[in-house]
Amino acid sequence: MHALVTGASSGIGREIARQLSQKGYTVVCCARTEEALSALSEQTEGLCLPFAVDLAEQGASEAVQAFCLERGFCIEVLVNCAGFGAVGHHVRHTAGSLAQMCRLNVNTPSELCSIFGKGMRDRGRGFILNVSSVAGFMPIPYFANYSASKAFLCSLSDSLHEELRPYGVYVCCLSPGPVRTQFHVRSNPNYADDEKSLFSLSAEEVAEAGLRGLFEGRRLVVPGFANRCIIWLERFLPRPLVSRFLALKSEGRKLTD
Ligand SMILES: NC(=O)c1ccc[n+]([C@@H]2O[C@H](COP(=O)([O-])OP(=O)(O)OC[C@H]3O[C@@H](n4cnc5c(N)ncnc54)[C@H](OP(=O)(O)O)[C@@H]3O)[C@@H](O)[C@H]2O)c1
Repeated sequence: MHALVTGASSGIGREIARQLSQKGYTVVCCARTEEALSALSEQTEGLCLPFAVDLAEQGASEAVQAFCLERGFCIEVLVNCAGFGAVGHHVRHTAGSLAQMCRLNVNTPSELCSIFGKGMRDRGRGFILNVSSVAGFMPIPYFANYSASKAFLCSLSDSLHEELRPYGVYVCCLSPGPVRTQFHVRSNPNYADDEKSLFSLSAEEVAEAGLRGLFEGRRLVVPGFANRCIIWLERFLPRPLVSRFLALKSEGRKLTD
């Protein structure tokens, strides 16, 4: 049994890879940090295979496909977890960093769904988990490119869930709220630890909920009761009101300097 997890060097992806290895999968683990991937491989007695790759580079999906083909792996479980965000004024981000985020959060997951989804469809069996975010359900000022990229993943997953289900392939969107990982420090250089939400979950909890939902054939998993309430409430509120509220919240936290 073979699985593929992107973003497996830390946080949620690392935990998903570890839990899949415990279920008996040999897991191809993709990320840039080779040492972290090698450490995971050691901890899982070689069940997690490191593949160091920059998934924001052109041609990364084909490189991942070639790695699997060379070893004769049939990927039965694909987890698109690699991602990053950058807090701040949209106009202050460079074109290069915006494009890099889109390639990592949007293009590569979409390409991997196509490449590995095809094999799963032909074999009549497979599972795809796309890690989006609660941010994918709402426009977030000062986190605009990130929330838009996660909205793409929500929509892609919904569509693929319907397209592939008749062929025995289940596509699930995992949309966490705040999770205690490196993500916040990486996305916001001014991040202070005391900003940690009361409702934040551990990577272990999120990974477990995601894999459970995936193998149950669910379309969407939102871990945590408070996060489910937010998503439910958001459906009934006008979008301009939601984005205005979120803008005020960010301005209050001085993200707008
Ligand atoms: N933490 C949260 O509060 C939260 C909430 C909702 C959704 N999410 C989503 O959950 C996913 C995982 O995030 P996390 O919280 O676990 O954060 P994390 O600890 O920062 O993990 C991010 C992972 O993505 C990989 N990655 C980043 N850039 C990459 C690149 N160019 N090429 C290959 N891999 C790359 C990182 O590995 P390398 O740096 O080694 O390349 C790392 O393994 C992300 O998609 C994020 O948007 C997080």
